Amino acid sequence: MRVSLIAAVADNGVIGKDNDLVWSLPDDMSFFKASTQGRHVIMGRRNYESIPHKFRPLPGRPNVVMSRNADYDSEGAALVGSLTEALDLAREAGESEAFIIGGGQIYTMALDADVVDTMYITHVHGEPEGDAFFPEFDRGNWELTVIDDHPADERHKFHFTICKYDRKS
Ligand SMILES: NC(=O)c1ccc[n+]([C@@H]2O[C@H](COP(=O)([O-])OP(=O)(O)OC[C@H]3O[C@@H](n4cnc5c(N)ncnc54)[C@H](OP(=O)(O)O)[C@@H]3O)[C@@H](O)[C@H]2O)c1
Repeated sequence: MRVSLIAAVADNGVIGKDNDLVWSLPDDMSFFKASTQGRHVIMGRRNYESIPHKFRPLPGRPNVVMSRNADYDSEGAALVGSLTEALDLAREAGESEAFIIGGGQIYTMALDADVVDTMYITHVHGEPEGDAFFPEFDRGNWELTVIDDHPADERHKFHFTICKYDRKS
């Protein structure tokens, strides 16, 4: 099973603030939806709670929520207590590509654990204030492909570049 990670990251590393996103980028959201459709999506409890009630669990995808609280009510999403458990659950369901969808704690854990094959990172060209961050990573270990470069416009406050990073073997 391929393990992928997908994130939108500002130039200063910010990914969120007050348990919410700090931008609205509809065309990047469409890329996220298309990439993860039908796939297991693995997320932290805080990220899950940041999704508006009417959109969670994210439709058309098995949702897997990580929490240390075994009694957490994940409202229809699978609940797991570790990243290993999350990946095992997807693997045992026959998944071919699982997506780690954040937030900051879960991205950091996944990169530290060295389980990620591919990262889809939307680089958002701005420096907004925030309190959740994507971890630093060594670009030398990853092969970069640019997927799309999207200018700022009336629907997108920020210019952004969607990149794919494949782990070098
Ligand atoms: N820009 C993007 O692409 C993007 C994507 C996703 C999220 N976000 C943003 O990121 C922010 C949320 O990120 P965050 O770092 O605050 O939280 P998070 O990573 O979404 O979730 C953290 C929670 O995960 C659980 N957890 C952490 N380590 C664990 C472990 N080892 N075992 C089991 N469970 C564990 C804990 O839940 P319990 O406390 O219940 O134990 C912890 O509180 C929000 O602002 C959100 O909008 C941005």
